Amino acid sequence: MEQKTISGFSKLSKLGKIKWLVENFFKDPETVKRELASYLLANEDQQKILDGFSENTISNYPLPLGVAPNFLVNDIPYCVPMVTEESSVVAAAASAAKFWLDRGGIKTKVIDTIKVGQVHFLWYGDASLLASKENALASHLISTCKEITKSMDERGGGIRNISLVNLCDREPGYFQLVIEADTRDSMGANFINSVLECCADALPKWFSENIPEEDIAPEVIMSILSNYTPNCLVKAWVECPVTELGEFDDGLGPEEFARRFYTAVRIAQIDPYRATTHNKGIFNGIDAVIIATANDFRAVEACGHTWAARSGRYKGLTTCTVDNGIFRFELEIPLAVGTVGGLTTLHPLAKRSLEMLGNPDASTLMEIVAATGLMQNFSAIRSLVTTGIQKGHMKMHLHNMLLRLEATEEESQMATDYFADKTVSFPELRKFMQMIRSAEPAKG
Ligand code: MEV
Repeated sequence: MEQKTISGFSKLSKLGKIKWLVENFFKDPETVKRELASYLLANEDQQKILDGFSENTISNYPLPLGVAPNFLVNDIPYCVPMVTEESSVVAAAASAAKFWLDRGGIKTKVIDTIKVGQVHFLWYGDASLLASKENALASHLISTCKEITKSMDERGGGIRNISLVNLCDREPGYFQLVIEADTRDSMGANFINSVLECCADALPKWFSENIPEEDIAPEVIMSILSNYTPNCLVKAWVECPVTELGEFDDGLGPEEFARRFYTAVRIAQIDPYRATTHNKGIFNGIDAVIIATANDFRAVEACGHTWAARSGRYKGLTTCTVDNGIFRFELEIPLAVGTVGGLTTLHPLAKRSLEMLGNPDASTLMEIVAATGLMQNFSAIRSLVTTGIQKGHMKMHLHNMLLRLEATEEESQMATDYFADKTVSFPELRKFMQMIRSAEPAKG
């Protein structure tokens, strides 16, 4: 009898977990078991590394690692590693990078690299008395955390500021300690969270010694970093004279292209529906590099979307100007990334991705990631305002459908030629394949 719930699952061996799973959730347990096993790495040590990243692992879930060459960022050439399941993304990034390689490349600038954490606490005493002691509290907490911050301080990072925020007008008694830190080349989540918890632990004693007249203890609700890091900010841009943009498909000249491109970027500034898709395209590029380098794409995305809504309305993350005959296209985005510690040093292919990029520091990785997001957006908008997106997409889509139908090279070529000027769909392709397969002379 099927048993779809279980207690003590995590304590089963990997084989035990697989056995329970396939017997209770699949129609053909033996086949599924073999398939799951086929995605495990032959090298047991390497498999152990992957298993260590997560819990209840039963197999691996491979995604392609591609590369986009010809990225010239601040005059340095890069071949950018990208992990994505979406067809056309790598090709689009590579194509835009090549376009701008011939026009001076991509420029970038890191504006700041400050990360943030918060201790959220309740305190019902005299808020102005507390505010008057903000500096003393900050100095006390900085010295209390010395043990934790020692090695980060030695690396030139550490706590940059601690401030007190009074939010009692929104929730009675609600205060925050906001801790800003420079975590150098590490993403810094562990560092910040350790500092926050140390500060939180020190709060009650500090209150009792420094505001004894109130005789009220603070209640810490939680201590956690914020993934919104508006001061961990990077800018990437491209520019060239409009006349150098060249000619586009369907005979579109450079001035007309620049005007249409500018308008498309403006639309994403105006309309949140378009902005969401516009930004999704940017994250197609950003996430792919973030994943390839084993950084946290959920953190980067969450932050980017909050940044996109910082004016109170959700907007596109890029801007475009066409002034005095110069076309300029820019992305400004907070990116909290790391190039040391965490999975960046544990995942064998992330290590290779970073090596491919010349083992960059975190700031340089911010620049490369922003450049990739910008190129992705350039490519998407270039297609959208010229030929439309489907032409390129459908080529890859056709390729994937041909894989599904196990087409030979010869059949793939015939299908590609046949659908060159037609709309391709799976039923149409299947019909075409049946037709050519039934027309093929019998083999053997
Ligand atoms: C598809 O994954 C991304 C695009 O829709 C982005 C855009 O519309 O700008 C092509």
